[in-house]
Amino acid sequence: MEPMAFVLFGATGDLARRKLFPALYRLFLDQKLPQEMIVVGTGKGEKTDEQFRAHVHDSLETFSKQVDELDPNFDDFLEMFHYCALDARNGDDYKKLLELVQHHEREYGIPENRLFYLSVSPEFFDTIALHIKEAGLGDTKGWKRLIIEKPFGRDLDTARLLNEKLNQAFDEKEIYRIDHYLGKGMVQNLRMLRFGNSIFEPLWNKEHIANVQITATEVVGVEGRADYYEKSGALRDMFQNHLLQLFMLVAMEPEELAREEDVHEKKKNVLASLRPIQKEDAAKHIIFGQYGRGETDGHKVIGYRQEPGVDPLSKTDTFIAARLYVDNARWSGVPFYIQTGKRMNMKSTKIIIEFKRSADEKDAGFPPNLLEISIGPDTAVSFRINSNDLEREDRVEQVNMKYKERSKHVQEAYERLLFDAFKGNSTFFARWGEVEAAWKFVQPLLDSMAEDLSLYEYPAGSRGPKASRQLLQEDGFRWW
Ligand code: BG6
Repeated sequence: MEPMAFVLFGATGDLARRKLFPALYRLFLDQKLPQEMIVVGTGKGEKTDEQFRAHVHDSLETFSKQVDELDPNFDDFLEMFHYCALDARNGDDYKKLLELVQHHEREYGIPENRLFYLSVSPEFFDTIALHIKEAGLGDTKGWKRLIIEKPFGRDLDTARLLNEKLNQAFDEKEIYRIDHYLGKGMVQNLRMLRFGNSIFEPLWNKEHIANVQITATEVVGVEGRADYYEKSGALRDMFQNHLLQLFMLVAMEPEELAREEDVHEKKKNVLASLRPIQKEDAAKHIIFGQYGRGETDGHKVIGYRQEPGVDPLSKTDTFIAARLYVDNARWSGVPFYIQTGKRMNMKSTKIIIEFKRSADEKDAGFPPNLLEISIGPDTAVSFRINSNDLEREDRVEQVNMKYKERSKHVQEAYERLLFDAFKGNSTFFARWGEVEAAWKFVQPLLDSMAEDLSLYEYPAGSRGPKASRQLLQEDGFRWW
């Protein structure tokens, strides 16, 4: 791997502590970092390199499962870290940062390959990117890359505006947009499952699939993030990005595996074939919900409107269920149901492919075959088939053929994604074409919410509003 400078904006923030330092350490232990690498952290306050290293060390003790001070090379790991105080709005600070980066690049013989990670509030994305350009940090003899994480705008217009500004400083191919769902092992495995097993491709279409269900339910509520969540809601927080990414991977046409760009094109194409839902029709296909009081793990919990920082009359959606159609040769007529919600009965992220039954199977009352891809917290693939109950052969039994991930160390999303970005592999990052197409689809839904939103209340700890079950019943299906 090529030597590089990893410039981390927001190095004293929460994401760095919880996810990025542990991921870097794990990559270090697995010898997946370049031989020569420096990490230059920036943050508001002054700190010496030693203080910053103590901060990194402390973060690892708190958040890393692998921290082991006895590791003989632990000091080598910490020595990569340097610090530069920086006010994101102050151009002079970027010049100081450039000098520091250049100084360490010379010291370690790093040929100006620079990866900029913006672990900061999204309102600073464009400011920082433009300062990187102006200060000359982006004029490298080697490569440069930019990593950012959602939200990329809060609607179609703001997303476009942000992107235009980012493009003044970075080419599209240099921008790595993290969607942490794309770093999950089973999500990455979806391509292998679909394209590495020749039994699936002949079945992966409207002739054989009755419907597809994509679910991401959570037990937690808004978790002290009311400020952010009040402006976001489930549609922006989960649906526009994570769930539409899963949808694209399930529904896209087979990619040319050897061509990295192809996956992005195929994903964008499937969104282009997604039947738009106009705002007048939104209520027919989309159910918005909000959790009320209820019970979670045997404890009484408050409703969304009672959460600290939430408007007592808030109309923010904490649940969404949607029915989508893809108007192309592969999928026409097959409903894709997508649901996500906070404060539901269980934490579960999964994709279910429900297969069609023959007329005979229907007559005999056999349940459908299901392919279930569990993404989290379990990582498993199971196939549900019907079998004779061997004790009572007149009875049909549903049995699961199951493969469960057994590896001792399942890599975390950030480890995979950082490693890919270090190598310059953008397969599991979101490209602008996909992000823009996702916003285009979501924009009329945002408009419908702004105007006249039916918001169904559901008790905390439940399976969400009844209306979401009715959505599937209308088509003769049910959530699995
Ligand atoms: C984040 C959302 O992107 O994903 C959170 O902002 C949500 O609201 C989280 O809780 C869910 O991620 P995971 O990996 O726990 O399913």
